[in-house]
Amino acid sequence: MRTIDWVDDAIVLVDQTRLPGELTYLRITTVADLIDAIQRLAVRGAPALGVAGAMGVALAARTGEPIAPLRAARPTAVNLAWGVDQAAANADPLARALEIRDEDLSACLAMGARGADLLAEHAATRVMTVCNTGGLATVERGTALGVIQTMHERGVLAEALALETRPLLQGARLTAWELARMGAPHRLIVDSAGPFLLARGAADAVLIGADRIAANGDTANKIGSYSLALGACRAGVPFLVIAPETTIDLATPTGDAIHIEDRGAAEVVSLGGVKIAPDGTQALNPAFDVTPADLITAIVTDRRVIRLDRGETP
Ligand code: MRU
Repeated sequence: MRTIDWVDDAIVLVDQTRLPGELTYLRITTVADLIDAIQRLAVRGAPALGVAGAMGVALAARTGEPIAPLRAARPTAVNLAWGVDQAAANADPLARALEIRDEDLSACLAMGARGADLLAEHAATRVMTVCNTGGLATVERGTALGVIQTMHERGVLAEALALETRPLLQGARLTAWELARMGAPHRLIVDSAGPFLLARGAADAVLIGADRIAANGDTANKIGSYSLALGACRAGVPFLVIAPETTIDLATPTGDAIHIEDRGAAEVVSLGGVKIAPDGTQALNPAFDVTPADLITAIVTDRRVIRLDRGETP
């Protein structure tokens, strides 16, 4: 199953807002509809957004729509702007978009193997993860969840603990769905249980994806990643970031310069469409946080392992 692809002059993508209830696809033929799908999180996850951005430029070449609003549709994941820029700089945007789609799959396979090798060195068989970093966040397989899939295929995964990931529940809705489909042993936990369960020795390592990695290694990822990094540090377990080279943004010196998307109060004051807070409640809703480089053991990319714990930088 491909999360996003180009079929008969259109982008075809899994509508992630309908999972886990229904596996349905959207057929997108305009940049305006693509921006809407990105902002509703029908398509999401940094690498999938990179492919969507590049394919969106191919759509724009047909419809004549501007690409600047697409490039800015979500600000934190660098891959979206990167994908738009890559396709726009190419005489044949569609050809470049299809290349990015294909490179994504090989990158995920490489990250999966390299990450599983590193975890084997740490004798780690029980892992904790947040949000969704699987095939649904890429074209197929995924980054951090791709490592977990490789561990499962190698027969060394004892258990994956997935954080539910409030407010939009990517962990409960998407990661649990993917783990069940691959037949991998897993349990779901509430977000606030993560650091405590690490303190009690429930996992041997934490694996996360990334939306943007600054030049010093500071890493923006789904809100909740930073608490897990603090918990992992205190518990003395490795904290690994799994991301393709395209998520490294050397133009951003440190995490302080990363624009964190705030998605507004509505997602916080309601859950699954049901209001859970009194009328008029104000809320803060940062969709991402930044884990400082000194809390990260290593960044595993499709090309290398960057040992932040040994002073290396991207
Ligand atoms: O808001 P989302 O669901 O797009 O956030 C996604 C994440 O934070 C992922 O961890 C990140 O994009 C890496 S996906 C391989």
